[in-house]
Amino acid sequence: MGFVRMPALSASAPGKAILFGEHAVVYGQPAIAVPVTEVVAKAIITPAPAAPAGSIHITAPQTNLDANIADLPASDPIAAAVRGTIAGLKIPAPPAFKLRVTSTIPVAGGLGSGAAVSVAIIRAVSSFLGHPLPDAQVSALAFEVEKLHHGTPSGIDNTVITYNQAVFYIKDKPIQTIRIASPFDLVIADTGRSTPTKETVADVRRLWESDPELYDAVFESIGKFSTAARAAIEQGNHEALGSLMNENHQLLQKLAVSSPDLDKLVLAAREVGALGAKLSGGGRGGNIIALAAAGRAQQIRSALEAAGAAGVIITKVHS
Ligand code: PMV
Repeated sequence: MGFVRMPALSASAPGKAILFGEHAVVYGQPAIAVPVTEVVAKAIITPAPAAPAGSIHITAPQTNLDANIADLPASDPIAAAVRGTIAGLKIPAPPAFKLRVTSTIPVAGGLGSGAAVSVAIIRAVSSFLGHPLPDAQVSALAFEVEKLHHGTPSGIDNTVITYNQAVFYIKDKPIQTIRIASPFDLVIADTGRSTPTKETVADVRRLWESDPELYDAVFESIGKFSTAARAAIEQGNHEALGSLMNENHQLLQKLAVSSPDLDKLVLAAREVGALGAKLSGGGRGGNIIALAAAGRAQQIRSALEAAGAAGVIITKVHS
């Protein structure tokens, strides 16, 4: 009797950019996010038939992880994604395997690296165990892991990354996809500084607690920008979309989640003719996004590099 040699199996998930509504989305306001397929997280599973059932070895070079799952704490997000998937499938002693996680998505940069890693792992592990999960369950399991990254996630990251489509997202509501009337280029520039989303979300909560009336009004205004932006995207009105991005950035400054680095990149993009620019994601570091008129993305990229961006990605947003 010989072993059946099972092949390696892999799954991947894109990064994401929030176009409108970060932070306000945590308080129930709508937000818009799009997948960014130029960066990707990947989970590769190799069976380990010689190891005892239930044994799982995990390596993730980007975060220097190289350990048996049994030695990882409940708070470890990669282990949590694996454990959550196995528990969800109610498989008591899964066959032994090795999991390797790689990602080209900058960590803590506002591009959804944590959620993308979770989604890739959940897909790979559930497929390996013979029960590939539907998107709704993949997203729900990834959401549980997001709670480890910060206590009160809105769910926007796991949703846009699982469904790999532009979404108009309201917390705890069914997913709404957005029809892109006319594709557009986004230039995404990294400050090179990373701030965990947990910190900025907690700081915004403290601000809100200091003056709920004022900050509820700010969140509501941001929500209105998201709604107006959805209409602009569905009408192909890129000028209106750009102006709304500028207005959203101003309110993010009011929430104290921008930074001199972010503001500098936003201004550099606008100076070279971007239709609009704003920080994207948790803020305080991480990335800005700039909306480029047709044929102008490379010029904006150069300006952002000259202004000190640590990395620039150009992505086309389309249906
Ligand atoms: O920094 P990111 O990519 O995790 O984006 C966070 C978006 C927030 O609205 C700040 C938090 C959330 O859970 O929606």
